[in-house]
Amino acid sequence: MTKIISGFSKLTKEKKIQWLSENYFSSQPEIINTIKQYWNADEKLQQLHDDFIENTISNFYLPYGVAPNFVINGENYVIPMVVEESSVVAAASLVAKFWSTRGGFTAEVISTTKIGQVHFMYKGDKETLSSYFNNQKENLYKATASITKNMEKRGGGILDIELVDKTDKLADYYQLHVTFETKDSMGANFINSCLEAIAKAFRRDDIEIIMSILSNYVPECVVKSEVSCKIEDLGGENPQKFAERFKQAVEIASIEPYRAVTHNKGIMNGIDAVVLATGNDFRAIEAGAHAYATKDGSYSSLTHCEIDNGIFRFWIEVPLALGTVGGLTALHPMAKLSLDMLQKPSAPELMQIIATAGLAQNFAALRALTTNGIQEGHMKMHLMNILNQLHATNEEKEEMVAYFKDKTVSHSAVVERFNELRKVNG
Ligand code: MEV
Repeated sequence: MTKIISGFSKLTKEKKIQWLSENYFSSQPEIINTIKQYWNADEKLQQLHDDFIENTISNFYLPYGVAPNFVINGENYVIPMVVEESSVVAAASLVAKFWSTRGGFTAEVISTTKIGQVHFMYKGDKETLSSYFNNQKENLYKATASITKNMEKRGGGILDIELVDKTDKLADYYQLHVTFETKDSMGANFINSCLEAIAKAFRRDDIEIIMSILSNYVPECVVKSEVSCKIEDLGGENPQKFAERFKQAVEIASIEPYRAVTHNKGIMNGIDAVVLATGNDFRAIEAGAHAYATKDGSYSSLTHCEIDNGIFRFWIEVPLALGTVGGLTALHPMAKLSLDMLQKPSAPELMQIIATAGLAQNFAALRALTTNGIQEGHMKMHLMNILNQLHATNEEKEEMVAYFKDKTVSHSAVVERFNELRKVNG
């Protein structure tokens, strides 16, 4: 039976669910209840979410947690995080507290510009193209005037338009490489609108425009966050040994791509969680961060570590194209709440906060990995997930948590103990 349907998007939400249920869940009618269980009782709020995308049939919950005690450039922050991985918020909170008594995090924005490109094909004489571009350049700016007007009032706009010859890599291929400053907005719509207007003004019979689109590679929109302290202030039994092993772990990630990808994944645990909580585009951030990790020719660590004169220094440098106005940031009530919680940051301030969340997460991971390993902490956090799968009651959860306080958590050990407990309690 073919399940191809035309006009699905025109069906009401009820009818969409009915179609889905009949065609894909014929033996599971209960899915209708599951889907509806996640509808918001407030119809206006539900409508808001329905309208974000097409064919919305329900909502998908992720936990929204907060990590207190971050000190960044002398300011106190509680950082909102949206993430499903059990240990991420706990790790961020622990590390925030740890560094709060050692001077906190110091963050600075290195650059804030973004790139967009008009990609086109041209078979003619290079000199002719170059002089056409130079003559047209002023007109290209003029063609975007109605779009850039408001952005210019906020101090942003188009900074430069360059003609780039790429014919050595691909026959007849050229670009208009455009540099933008988008201030507190992420700027995707602004950049793409400008590029399309530029392409239209640039077009002529012998120029074939292929596409006009922003780049999510933003090596000129970079932020740095760092922590440092005297080695002896790192605490623990042997702080010197700890610092050295920690630095070696960072060095391994710098030269070994298999390790670097996991190392950076841990950083993104922190970054993505805040990016999501603030209504920003985590796919753009992911793509840009990983591309930046290869900027020196092979995939490498986004964090760096140095021990110099008895001082331990650990820092991250990462590109983050973020917005604190526009997009979902004002539309999604929880994104707005996150930004309010962060004291309504500008985009550069949010870059500093999010880079710090990434650095903190990496510190937590490396501290665990180079000492006790991560499974102890992870499995303790995971215990609750296993208990929920087993439909444990609150009393059972309490007993189980107490029991595993000084024991190794594994799925089978939890199931075994749980079954024993149920037997004893009848
Ligand atoms: C798990 O989500 C992240 C870690 O694997 C990161 C790392 O290995 O550095 C713990």
